[in-house]
Amino acid sequence: MSSRLIQPSAPKSVYRQLRENPFIFGLSMFVSLGGFLFGYEQGAVSGVLKMESFAAEFPRVYLDSGLKGWFVSTLLLVAWLGALVNGPVVDHFGRRGSMLAAVVVFVCGSALQAAASTTGVLFGGRAVSGFAIGMLTMIVPMYLSEVSTAGIRGTLVGLQQLSITVGILVSYWLEYGTQYIGGTRCAPDIPYTGGTESSRKFDPIHDAGPNGCTGQDGAAWRVPFALKIAPALVLGVGMLFLPESPRFLLMRKDEEDKALKSLARLRRVHPDSDSLRVEYLSIKAEVLFDESVARVKHPGKSGVSLYVAQYASLVSTWPAFRRLAVGCCVMFFQQFTGCNAMIYYAPTIFGQLGLSGDTTSLLATGVYGVVNTLSTLPALFLIDKVGRRPLLMCGALGMFVSLVIVGTIVGAYGPDLRSHRSAAWAGIAFIFIYDVNFSYSFGPVGWLLPSEIFNVGNRSKAVAITTSTAWMSNFVIGLVTPDMLEAIGWGTYIFFAAFCLMALAFTYFFVPETKGRSLEDMDVAFGDMAACEEKMRLFKNCGDARPYGAGAGAECGGALVQ
Ligand code: BGC
Repeated sequence: MSSRLIQPSAPKSVYRQLRENPFIFGLSMFVSLGGFLFGYEQGAVSGVLKMESFAAEFPRVYLDSGLKGWFVSTLLLVAWLGALVNGPVVDHFGRRGSMLAAVVVFVCGSALQAAASTTGVLFGGRAVSGFAIGMLTMIVPMYLSEVSTAGIRGTLVGLQQLSITVGILVSYWLEYGTQYIGGTRCAPDIPYTGGTESSRKFDPIHDAGPNGCTGQDGAAWRVPFALKIAPALVLGVGMLFLPESPRFLLMRKDEEDKALKSLARLRRVHPDSDSLRVEYLSIKAEVLFDESVARVKHPGKSGVSLYVAQYASLVSTWPAFRRLAVGCCVMFFQQFTGCNAMIYYAPTIFGQLGLSGDTTSLLATGVYGVVNTLSTLPALFLIDKVGRRPLLMCGALGMFVSLVIVGTIVGAYGPDLRSHRSAAWAGIAFIFIYDVNFSYSFGPVGWLLPSEIFNVGNRSKAVAITTSTAWMSNFVIGLVTPDMLEAIGWGTYIFFAAFCLMALAFTYFFVPETKGRSLEDMDVAFGDMAACEEKMRLFKNCGDARPYGAGAGAECGGALVQ
């Protein structure tokens, strides 16, 4: 390798890079439908659980808060499993193949939920859909990350977070409409017998007629469950026509030609173009490196024992462990900063802040969802410009301050908040400010970082673990928040604020900046110089190519050399 320095060309703006390759932008928007399905599935259930025609069909689920909680949590728990087992699926069937499998599972689960007439089938459908959601959340960010270029990867993977928020929003407003199918009451002609003397509520056991509801139709809840099949099918059919990840194809010995063609299709350039060959060879060098490491570390192993050894290698060296720990912690903090505590229990939280009735539900779910979506947008513009670390740190600080203020207000006024309107409104405003801070930071970056920091050989296994961390944490939050809100009230906000502070410190001390680096260049970001140098040697061997991407291969920490 000579030491002639190459002057890197002026970096192009994210907007320009997207304009130059609208195909990759369109593809990413399309694939992020996977995120939409997640948001929709998560959001749809709260509205359905309130519908009287649903209550008439499943009185036990409606009346038993434990069963209701499990109906919500089944998704989270099974998604944990779906994400965890998806590593081997992705290795075997490819990124596209596993997405297709997830879509088929999702469609089955949605059909079961929409057609359910017994509690068992309803829960079964929820579990099957949850499994698919776990798979999708594992594979979508990883696929997007692998097909992107370094300079716009943050924006493209960030589209999945935008789609999650849009999914939550669409499900809410859709159900707002479908609840009117046949009327909002199950039995409009009789006075209800449930609830208390002063506020009567629907009692599904006594108030629904022998043939079910005379008012609200079952379609009110079945339609939202059935409708999600449509975007899933669109995603599945579309995936048949989209390119497989070149990185996956390159890992298969006999698919090198296909890998090059796929990369050319993604970059919209001829397979013989210089820029393409540089990128292609840098990916190939990474694959060769991973293979040589595997040969040395796991000689003679195959099948299950090789798999176990590969999983073990995720924690066997400090640089490998550091990457896994960073990926898992980012996902853990995404959940433990409390985002879903706000989303799942917004009505209770706004109730603590002195709001009740219709205004509460509307503010709690509808408006909160709109803020969630709108404040994700800045991240799409900033994530590749200012970087991941500043967004995470600003977001964590903003969430910390907001939660401390809300906790202090609830702690100081308690039940008297109803008569202290300005304090109550200040608290509500800070709940929204909290939401804004989550939506541009740990929301999108939480999914992005794990999808970009691992080597190609162990990426799928590692991302399966990081994604399942998110689901397990989500499950725990769903489980403990209602009890916390009841038992420690204002302390709940301080509890989550403490995690925001930890997330800030964790980012500052442990998360390296990955903006603008190619996936093959993450060794440098994590200080793994030995791996980087070995890859540089392999680059030379397989075509005198240089590492690809801005900042990439900065001769393992210096200027780009040729
Ligand atoms: C989280 C979800 C959360 C959503 C809210 C996502 O990044 O993973 O659990 O509900 O953001 O916008």
